[in-house]
Amino acid sequence: MNLQSDRISTLCDTLKLAGVADSYPALASAAAETEQSFTDFLENVLLAERDCRRSRSASTLVRMAGFPAVKTIEEYDFKFASSAPKRQIELLASLAFVARKENAVFLGPSGVGKTHLAIALGHKAASAGIKTRFITAADMILQVETAQRQSRLSKYMKTLTGYTLLIIDEIGYLPMHREQAHLFFQIVAARYEKGSTIMTSNLSFSTWDQAFAGDRVLTAAMLDRLLHHAQVIQIQGESYRLKDKRKAGIIAPAQQKESART
Ligand SMILES: Nc1ncnc2c1ncn2[C@@H]1O[C@H](COP(=O)(O)OP(=O)(O)OP(=O)(O)O)[C@@H](O)[C@H]1O
Ligand SMILES: [Mg+2]
Repeated sequence: MNLQSDRISTLCDTLKLAGVADSYPALASAAAETEQSFTDFLENVLLAERDCRRSRSASTLVRMAGFPAVKTIEEYDFKFASSAPKRQIELLASLAFVARKENAVFLGPSGVGKTHLAIALGHKAASAGIKTRFITAADMILQVETAQRQSRLSKYMKTLTGYTLLIIDEIGYLPMHREQAHLFFQIVAARYEKGSTIMTSNLSFSTWDQAFAGDRVLTAAMLDRLLHHAQVIQIQGESYRLKDKRKAGIIAPAQQKESART
């Protein structure tokens, strides 16, 4: 038994240096083979520890973000979604907007990939060590109402403002009543210029008040904050969900449906 390797293992355990424990045998052999200096070896071991910690924290952040699926920008078919602003989406993927605490709003009909792109950006952010949370508007309302009922609203608001990137999916799918709209407004107001928020919706801004209890004043005040520093990504076109059915002729193409109506 190699006693020194056991002792190093125990020391790594005690000092919580999992990266060192995993990488030092290979790094030590490489150092011996290439006659590295002690300081070069030490630097390589420390780099391995840093990389190991970064990757573990990225996996934790991805897990905690609550993505409903794994989606990537690379998987997004820009040929199918020919109206999607590719350059703008690629720029968003650089995550500079998150560093600038700006927002992004994806608008468009069902199935054009709004959630896909929001998840892809969120996944990129969490993998880069950015504290991210994905939630549907309906779930967020449920949670914030529960927090209010249990007298822990300020704690919940603190949690939501604590995310560097908050993704609120499906605005307008379930219309809110007055109290819910007020709570939603409070969340947007609390995050204003403090963190990035991504939202997705199939409603155009001019009809967002329908989702917020018909309250035009509240909706205008919320959009004012949301859009002050924001990018709006408008995607038009057919649902990707139905593309194979259309190909198979089970559903008529959208254009055909349009002309059938006229
Ligand atoms: N251009 C695309 N390339 C590849 N996959 C796509 C594309 N558009 C959508 N998808 C896929 O189609 C499915 C539906 O997309 P998504 O859920 O993002 O649509 P959505 O715009 O959020 O629709 P909804 O308004 O109904 O929520 C997903 O599985 C997504 O990965
Ligand atoms: Mg969606």
